[in-house]
Amino acid sequence: MFSINHNFAKLQGSYLFSEIARRVAAYKTQNPDKDIIPMGIGDVTRPLAHEVISSLIKSAEEMGKAETFRGYGPEQGYDFLRNKIAEADYKARGISVAPDEVFVSDGSKCDTGNIQEILGADCIVAVTDPVYPVYVDTNVMAGRAGDFDEKEKRYTNLVYLQTTAENGFEPPLPSGRVDVVYLCSPNNPTGTALTRAQLKKWVDWANKNGSLILFDGAYERFITQKEIPHSIYEIEGAKACAIEFRSFSKTAGFTGTRCAYTVVPKDLMGADPQGGKVSLNALWLRRHTTKFNGVSYFVQRAAESVYSPEGSRQVSRAIGYYLNNAKIILDGLENAGIRAWGGVNSPYVWLKTPGDMTSWEFFGLLLDRAGVVGTPGSGFGRAGEGYFRLTAFGTAENTRKAMLRVLDLKL
Ligand code: MLT
Repeated sequence: MFSINHNFAKLQGSYLFSEIARRVAAYKTQNPDKDIIPMGIGDVTRPLAHEVISSLIKSAEEMGKAETFRGYGPEQGYDFLRNKIAEADYKARGISVAPDEVFVSDGSKCDTGNIQEILGADCIVAVTDPVYPVYVDTNVMAGRAGDFDEKEKRYTNLVYLQTTAENGFEPPLPSGRVDVVYLCSPNNPTGTALTRAQLKKWVDWANKNGSLILFDGAYERFITQKEIPHSIYEIEGAKACAIEFRSFSKTAGFTGTRCAYTVVPKDLMGADPQGGKVSLNALWLRRHTTKFNGVSYFVQRAAESVYSPEGSRQVSRAIGYYLNNAKIILDGLENAGIRAWGGVNSPYVWLKTPGDMTSWEFFGLLLDRAGVVGTPGSGFGRAGEGYFRLTAFGTAENTRKAMLRVLDLKL
């Protein structure tokens, strides 16, 4: 019989958010009348902006006419969107990114997972702990993570950078060899963000060691503080050592619409087995054009509309709405005497579970006694144990209700 990719057997349980959905569904079956407030998965609730809807309708009409109908588009994205991204997300911030360094895709989850296909199997990979589980699981699938050590609760071949309240959520630079590091700022799950000075240390480290930074900026639009960079390319030297991932999911409510992009600078070189330099931009272009047929025309037009003055205003309103929810959560937790971080440059609030409760114990208590679903910190890694994540993506009404219920628990 044919064999399977045995690396899948090394994955730990099911994907975190599927596991939470499974537990909540089981709980609902047993408690059908309970009013449950979802604050677990970071999924948006505000409807798409009017500008986005108008653009979807207009592009659908174009597709219905022979003169404006379009078949396959360029796999790496239409020029109208790549130009807009290079202009509005980079040039306007004084960063030079060329349109052909931008690759449009259907999501950062896919991109952060797929990018490793262009990297050597022998690369030593570092992740923060806690971490967005996709970075770890996709490396496990690719056979780069080693085996899961049950006692250590970690994969043997990954380097873990503990990022907790003790070090102010600043991942420490690796002490040994690391070829590739995933950094996410503003961070999922902790909601904290790296300052320009902190990120500079990483860029300098990567350039000194010939390492690659995979920088996930999916939550960039939530940044409110001046000292937090919106792009890693704000840091000098970053174009020689970093790939940046951005998404319209959390920015413009596209979790169900699907559009994202990845910037692979042309300055970025990796080594071939003979030590020759190879352009990562060329490799990613080859991979993307071979395995992907592009994001639909409608969705790329919709993404483009987010950059119009009115589209941008509408999107900012939704971001403001979520940031206001984050403030409600932070205030509510403070009133309840619970320590919390994040929520200022991020839709995520990261809290310390009260007493000695484990993350999953707190998940059970919150669900059962308050009808609130959050995400256990330990689901993001060993160092997330004793922490818990709440998202601000719900409605303001539910967010207020949830925090009153937390207060009532008198923890
Ligand atoms: C999360 O809750 O962490 C996000 O929804 C994950 C994602 O964007 O895939």
